[in-house]
Amino acid sequence: MRELCFATNNRNKIAEVSQMLEGKYKLLSLEDIGCNEELAEDQDTLEGNSRQKANYVWANYNVNCFADDTGLEVDAICGEPGVYSARFAGPQRSDTDNINKLLHVLEGQENRRARFRTSITLYLDNQEYQFEGIVNGTIATEYKGNKGFGYDPIFIPEGHEKTFAEMSPEEKNAISHRGRAMQKLISFLQEQ
Ligand code: IMP
Repeated sequence: MRELCFATNNRNKIAEVSQMLEGKYKLLSLEDIGCNEELAEDQDTLEGNSRQKANYVWANYNVNCFADDTGLEVDAICGEPGVYSARFAGPQRSDTDNINKLLHVLEGQENRRARFRTSITLYLDNQEYQFEGIVNGTIATEYKGNKGFGYDPIFIPEGHEKTFAEMSPEEKNAISHRGRAMQKLISFLQEQ
């Protein structure tokens, strides 16, 4: 079985993707390849960040790998917080602070359209490939639900009444930005 590193130490992400690869690739975490550093992600686009992380691992550990980066793009504030989603309310990276700041910024705003966008960069046999996953939706006016993480309690995906935080993980993964980007990556890997 071929080895492939997912440049993350998030065990939930690793487990989810391992399952999708159905035994074709052995998925390794950063810890599995002996990489215990915090990977830099200081580019100004999602694509730049996923490339930066995947490129670092590929160049320094000589292993096929991929990395992801996600942002929430809100139309009324010109696509912000985007690549800065994790740090929107400051370096403490608090989900609650980020949500409160966004609700405050959008107070009285009628245009609540937004999207989550995920970029994945893959390095496979010395070639670089990128994949994108998008889910459109709207920003709710208050918190709803307690599942998921990040901005889930205030994001209502298009065609649904519930926020991501009111959905089961299976329900969310089937339509989410990350789920869609991962599906593209996995279809590509299955063809190799
Ligand atoms: P990351 O690139 O997956 O680390 O995501 C960056 C930031 O985007 C996170 O810290 C969250 O604030 C937000 N985010 C990413 N994915 C999701 C999601 O599925 N739901 C809600 N927020 C998310």
